Amino acid sequence: MATVIDKYPKSGDEIRKAFLDFYEKKAHKVIPSSSLIPDDPTVLLTIAGMLPFKSIFLGLKDKPSNRATSSQKCIRTNDIENVGVTARHHTFFEMLGNFSFGDYFKRDAIEWAWQLVTNVYHLDRKNIVISVFDKDTESKKIWEENIGIEPDKIIQLGEKDNFWSSGPTGPCGPCSELYYDFYPERGMNNIDLDDDDRFIEFYNLVFMQYNRDSSGALTDLKYKNIDTGMGLERMAQILQKKKNNYETDLIFPIIEKASQLSKVDYFSANSSQKASLKILGDHTRAIIHLISDGVIASNLGRGYILRRLLRRMIRHGKLLGIKDKFISQLALVGIQLMKNTYPELQNNSQRIFSEIDIEEQRFLNTLERGEKLLNEIIASGVKLISGTQAFELYDTYGFPLELTKEILDEKNIEVDLKGFEREMNSQRERAKAASQTVDLTLEGSIERDIELFEKTNFVGYELLNTEGNIKGIFINSNSVENASQGETVQVVLNQTSFYAESGGQIGDVGVIISDNAEILVEKVIKKKDVFLHYGIIQRGSIKINQLVETRVDKSKRVKAESNHTATHLLQSALKLVVDESVSQRGSMVAFNKLRFDFNSPNPVSENQILDIEKLVNKWILENHSIS
Ligand code: ALA
Repeated sequence: MATVIDKYPKSGDEIRKAFLDFYEKKAHKVIPSSSLIPDDPTVLLTIAGMLPFKSIFLGLKDKPSNRATSSQKCIRTNDIENVGVTARHHTFFEMLGNFSFGDYFKRDAIEWAWQLVTNVYHLDRKNIVISVFDKDTESKKIWEENIGIEPDKIIQLGEKDNFWSSGPTGPCGPCSELYYDFYPERGMNNIDLDDDDRFIEFYNLVFMQYNRDSSGALTDLKYKNIDTGMGLERMAQILQKKKNNYETDLIFPIIEKASQLSKVDYFSANSSQKASLKILGDHTRAIIHLISDGVIASNLGRGYILRRLLRRMIRHGKLLGIKDKFISQLALVGIQLMKNTYPELQNNSQRIFSEIDIEEQRFLNTLERGEKLLNEIIASGVKLISGTQAFELYDTYGFPLELTKEILDEKNIEVDLKGFEREMNSQRERAKAASQTVDLTLEGSIERDIELFEKTNFVGYELLNTEGNIKGIFINSNSVENASQGETVQVVLNQTSFYAESGGQIGDVGVIISDNAEILVEKVIKKKDVFLHYGIIQRGSIKINQLVETRVDKSKRVKAESNHTATHLLQSALKLVVDESVSQRGSMVAFNKLRFDFNSPNPVSENQILDIEKLVNKWILENHSIS
């Protein structure tokens, strides 16, 4: 007979505590959350509860005990566009986890997960759907035989969904996930586990038994381990019976504050206002923890992530009609909400407020200059503003297009949207070549993402062919996981033999090739030592972390090198024939030609040009060696 329990865990704090208590009773050592800044050079931020234990899984560090449990603060920004749009995507979230270091494995992990969710959180078994890795028949059997799950509620999925790893290399393994089904009465025919309205994945059990090396090969880890992750916000959504994670007690008080500041009521807001409010709720939690853990806003790495989050907040604040600085007020609510679990937030609060203030002021100044421009446009009496002007407001002054449209709409001024789109596209083209500055107003821009890669190892002086791993793929400047035949892509590799355009010399052309793909590389540029290979996929498909070979077109390389050498010869001849003071002002080296810009006190005469030609040809015929 079922016992009636007065109070099941419901609030975020209760859910967290119930998880840790449950596993502590099963002999797990409770480990406090680590910093968001990981002790691991392969990732920028702590993205999962297992990250602090990675070297233990790899057998490089002693284990604190055989079993551990934690509630780890995490940040993921790969899905930032989905934040506020879907019911469950976040930048900052807390991951509850139980870990076994060579101790228990699949059977206990599954049985305990089941006990926890049904006996502690009191979820009804009719609401639970399971996914398993399709090659992992053992887990399927445990779910069926030990737990009694009906076969139609166990969904077998492939590697993309049910094989987990923390990054391109490192510990990994098949996983089994628990989903909550909000509408079990709809039955199990033709279900789609990605359907947010019906299902939410809330607990992932990873059977961590392999290490993946940089070539992609799997080897057995010393022990079979368990790594799990339960999204605290997701469990809160389920137990608090909310429509989405944002409406739970973990986040909603921040949204209420934003709603009060903007005078936009959350429940009657339209969908884009609602998304802005959710983004403010989400990002507030991320920025206070980032600053508390020591991140300072900048244009690089983690600093860039912080800056981007803060600027997104300012923009969404503007969209909601908030006029002044406001982020510290949201931060205060966030700190109050989480200070009991994370006392460092309270201790670092002054630093948090001051960093927010500096960054907010900086961006508001830029926006203010944009407003001036906008007012001039309005005052000029035009009825339509050009795409170029709208783009300048967006690009230089950080005005989201929606905001420009909204302001001008009130004055019955239209915006040339097609023109704006054209400017946007040509800016993407320009961005490939020029500026070293990061454009913080562009979403999904390659300019921004490229900063996040490790520098490419260039071996092209010694080798024309080498092997490399695909670290990034972009289509239309947006980062993607894979691409296939016919698509125009930009590819980042960890190592390459392709020379990138620099010092006026054109980049190499050639092919990037693997057993199942071939990319015709037409151009290579570099930015902060990260090489971007531009090309078209001629055959097959590519994906992140794939091993490929880079093959430089040798004949073209030789031509570019010859033309490069010729610029040096030309400069020497100019000095001898025209004037010693001739100095270089620029140059361009292509495969079939070169251009050399110089300044000279006098025009160069026809005769001098002939002398220069003779001299250069003589030096070429002498066939000197080059260093
Ligand atoms: N490490 C696993 C995850 O993040 C549990 O989903």
